[in-house]
Amino acid sequence: MSDTKIKSIKEYVLDSTSFFGEYGGSFIPEVIKPNLDELTETFMACIKDESFERELRTELKQISGRPTAFTPLPNLTEKIGGAQLWFKNEGLNHTGAHKINHCIGQALVAKRLGKKRIIAETGAGQHGLATATVCARYQMDCVIYMGRKDYNRQRPNVFWMELLGATVIPVDDGSQTLSDAVIAAFKDLISNPEDTHYLLGSAVGPHPYPLMNTYFQKIIGEEVREQTKEQFDRLPDCLVACVGGGSNALGLFFDFLDDRGVEMIGVEAGGRSTQAGDHAAKLLQGEKGIFEGYYSYFLQDGDGNISDTHSVSAGLDYCGVSPILAYLKDTGRVKFEVADDKQALTALEELSKAEGFIPALESAHAFAYAFKYARELSKDKLIVINSSGRGEKDLFITMEHFQKEGLTKFLKSQLNGDGS
Ligand SMILES: Cc1ncc(COP(=O)(O)O)c(C=O)c1O
Repeated sequence: MSDTKIKSIKEYVLDSTSFFGEYGGSFIPEVIKPNLDELTETFMACIKDESFERELRTELKQISGRPTAFTPLPNLTEKIGGAQLWFKNEGLNHTGAHKINHCIGQALVAKRLGKKRIIAETGAGQHGLATATVCARYQMDCVIYMGRKDYNRQRPNVFWMELLGATVIPVDDGSQTLSDAVIAAFKDLISNPEDTHYLLGSAVGPHPYPLMNTYFQKIIGEEVREQTKEQFDRLPDCLVACVGGGSNALGLFFDFLDDRGVEMIGVEAGGRSTQAGDHAAKLLQGEKGIFEGYYSYFLQDGDGNISDTHSVSAGLDYCGVSPILAYLKDTGRVKFEVADDKQALTALEELSKAEGFIPALESAHAFAYAFKYARELSKDKLIVINSSGRGEKDLFITMEHFQKEGLTKFLKSQLNGDGS
């Protein structure tokens, strides 16, 4: 479908019955079709219901503390000497990232469906943590699937999820990362299609998940619109967000899709190198295909098998991407770039030392690209970066890069029980 024929991209996306251009769809086993049909119907009814919208806005305010702050980066703006840099601090959400926006939304839909059991997958642990949090809040049973590699590298979040009452199940299949956790969660849904809601954690998967999670995340851009209007009485020139599955990027971009003067850049994980298995840049290096119930870009080997991925950030370490972003790429509305592991770590250190904010490693990819791009723009331009989460969850990974010896010494002292 050609972009020029579509007057409002926002309306086009919201009106979708499952495809966005050629992407999306619902390629699922028959046994879970009634579950997802019922979910679609209820979600569509909810968003037309004013009482649902009121409840959603109240919960986002009272549980998560929205609206989140809109914050200038004066020291880095001066140092870089180009465009003005501001960021949307989604790390200030309860549980530390944007993921809680769609968790609250989906939990309210699940409540209306009368579901008592919630399952979810998680990579960085932020989506799992937010899911476990809303399940405790609404008193629902909670099971979280996590690839073994992520289970080991995001240990603090595993502990918090368990403390919140969730059962966390490590998945030993495949590359032991996010896509293996997604498959395990779908297998669970296939065994328990009636009493379970699968609270999928990004704008990926079969219909209605890409649409539903974009809908629940779009509050990020709506707030940025109000905040830039209040601060500058105009719109931003450029929006930058990292891309794992695509939920925080679509959350920031959605409200501005019809404002053609606003440039949008999604930043993928460049990992260690451009070689297969060393990165997670699916929109830039992936191929079209069907996986996990939807048609989009996926990282594949020449035979159509899903490739391994790598990123220093667990949340970007995923082989697929939202069909909505795939559509926006093809139409040219959103541009995609990469930041690699090293650039993300450098940006994290720069932001911490120059401004006093430690971002999640995922968000550090967006900052890395924005710092580079700001140099190319004049001082009257405004770049808004989505800081999708805060950095505490990454303590052990970040420390390994900056203070490897300190970390080893600390862990040894804990094991020896000398506490010193
Ligand atoms: C803080 C943070 N940012 C970004 C992401 C990437 O996900 P998405 O692209 O869906 O926003 C994750 C995923 O876990 C995350 O925890």
